[in-house]
This record gives sequence, structure tokens and C-alpha cells, in this order.
Amino acid sequence: MDSSELVRLAREVLPFAYAPYSGYRVGAALLCVDGRVFRGVNIENSSLGLSICAERGALAAAVAAGCRSFSLLAVVSEKKSKPYPCGACCQVLQEFSRDLLVIVAAETDDDADNFTLGELLPHAFRFKPEM
Ligand code: THU
Repeated sequence: MDSSELVRLAREVLPFAYAPYSGYRVGAALLCVDGRVFRGVNIENSSLGLSICAERGALAAAVAAGCRSFSLLAVVSEKKSKPYPCGACCQVLQEFSRDLLVIVAAETDDDADNFTLGELLPHAFRFKPEM
């Protein structure tokens, strides 16, 4: 599965995003090392604070299916501004795959950005109770 195919899969779920408050729909597609792909969309809530990002939705679906190791994540929006994963999503993703590659694309795929998770969150919290 190449990155443009994963971006296409993320774009495909954009209509299912529930974003009545921000109007900013986000879709995510997470590629597992075994080749399976899990997708998520942002799900907003009238409390606002309980809104769920597309990335964590995709991760939850993957983990519930037994996947805990990932190679590539595509995150897309239909607006001009790119949906760079928030700190909370990066923190949750790094629990499973520190070397994850992340592709972020806005309304068109032409200017997609590529990062490693470590570039997005270089100092993720890691619980080391012995220290
Ligand atoms: N959002 C995501 O789903 N993923 C991102 O990477 C950035 C932001 C959502 C959260 C909220 O529903 C909307 O985008 C506006 O912040």
C-alpha cells in the first residue's frame, strides 16, 4: 500500500466525519504492519471538550481489532489548512509506534507533508516509574 492510496482511503471517510461545531471534517487512515487499514473521523460533541480526533478514532478501531504496530498514518481535511495531528493524538500514537510515518494533506494531495511521529512530538511522555 503506497502513501497516495492511504491518503485516498482517508479522504473516502471524510463525509462520515461529525463536525457540526467546527465545520472542519478530518479523516484518518492507519496502516498496520500486517497490511490492514483502519480508519477514523473526527466526532465532535456539544460539550466540545469531549470531541474525538480522527487519528484516535482510527487507532481505537485498530487496537480493538488486535493491531498494535503501525507503519503509516494519513490524515486529511477538506479545507485549505492541514490537519497536523494534535499533541494528544501524537502522545497516544507513540504508545504503539514510535517510528510511525505521518502524511498530512489538506484539500488537495499536491502539497502533502511527511513527518515522523518523533518530529511532531520529540519529547513524548514515557512513564518510567523506576526513575
Ligand atoms: N481534528 C482532528 O480530528 N485531527 C487533527 O489532526 C486536528 C483536529 C479535529 C478536532 C475537531 O473536531 C476539529 O478537527 C477542529 O479542531
